[in-house]
Amino acid sequence: MSVLPNQLKDYQRRVDSLLEKNINNAGEHAPRLKKAMQYALFNGGKRMRPFLVYATGEMLGATLDDLDCAAVAIECMHAYSLIHDDLPAMDDDDMRRGKPTCHIAFDEATAILAGDALQTMAFEILANAQFKIDTPKLPLQLIKLLASASGYRGMCGGQAMDLAATNSAISEQQLKHLHQLKTGALLKAAVQMAAEIAPDVSTESYQQLTTFSEALGLAFQVQDDILDVIGDSSTLGKPQGSDQAQNKSTYPSLLGLQGAKNYLSELHQQALHALDALPYNTRVLVAFNDFIVQRDH
Ligand code: IPE
Ligand code: IPE
Ligand code: MG
Ligand code: MG
Ligand code: MG
Repeated sequence: MSVLPNQLKDYQRRVDSLLEKNINNAGEHAPRLKKAMQYALFNGGKRMRPFLVYATGEMLGATLDDLDCAAVAIECMHAYSLIHDDLPAMDDDDMRRGKPTCHIAFDEATAILAGDALQTMAFEILANAQFKIDTPKLPLQLIKLLASASGYRGMCGGQAMDLAATNSAISEQQLKHLHQLKTGALLKAAVQMAAEIAPDVSTESYQQLTTFSEALGLAFQVQDDILDVIGDSSTLGKPQGSDQAQNKSTYPSLLGLQGAKNYLSELHQQALHALDALPYNTRVLVAFNDFIVQRDH
């Protein structure tokens, strides 16, 4: 029996209530913007990145209270990335999590600002974070990790490579790099932020955790690409076939569906090997690794 479902719900509830508190405390001077931010945050996301923060951090001996800032910040960053990903200038998608995308439900200007405001909120949360043990440099370290995972060297750079690779053929090497940046970087940051917050993580363990998160992050996007081909829109909550309609460079388009599935199981094994090498109880992360490749949305 997988340990995941209960744990997933607990972590989801925890991060949801913190996200709600942050937004509610944000004042009422721009109500339409605030509504758009709430819309994008509370429309049924799986909260995979907060899950990784909490599960990794607890495994390493950190407290949930100390992990909260990273869990909330990374979900804000993710929500922003999705709002902008769906914009007409990017993927031009009109459905997300089973509902109209933010720019459809509101308007483009509001959606752009909602993304901007969620991104900056992420850094505000980290800058204001307080920890049980007095570690003055920790907020700055977390900000650095999240900033580089989100910017040119991370998600934004990957999104730009994704757009450049649309309607053109790229090599497997280039596709891997693109996926590592656009999706892998944030998932890796979730693990690394947890490892920064946790006390006394050895250099070897940090390295294994990084290897695990790199394989997992890539696997996550490979499965996203596969689901775009074999999923159905109502389960996915987003339009099936969007990648093909737009002639995106994806693993199924490059390697074929079976080739993509084979690569996915290779990455699953790589992630598992990295977990095996850790001197911690990796039960929850093993279950999460399974969940990533078995998920249907
Ligand atoms: C979707 O991410 C976009 C990718 C990076 C592949 P998720 O599948 O985590 O989306 P939500 O938050 O659960 O909707
Ligand atoms: C999105 O990749 C990656 C992000 C940085 C948001 P996709 O464009 O494949 O994500 P979906 O399929 O729209 O969720
Ligand atoms: Mg995209
Ligand atoms: Mg998209
Ligand atoms: Mg996709």
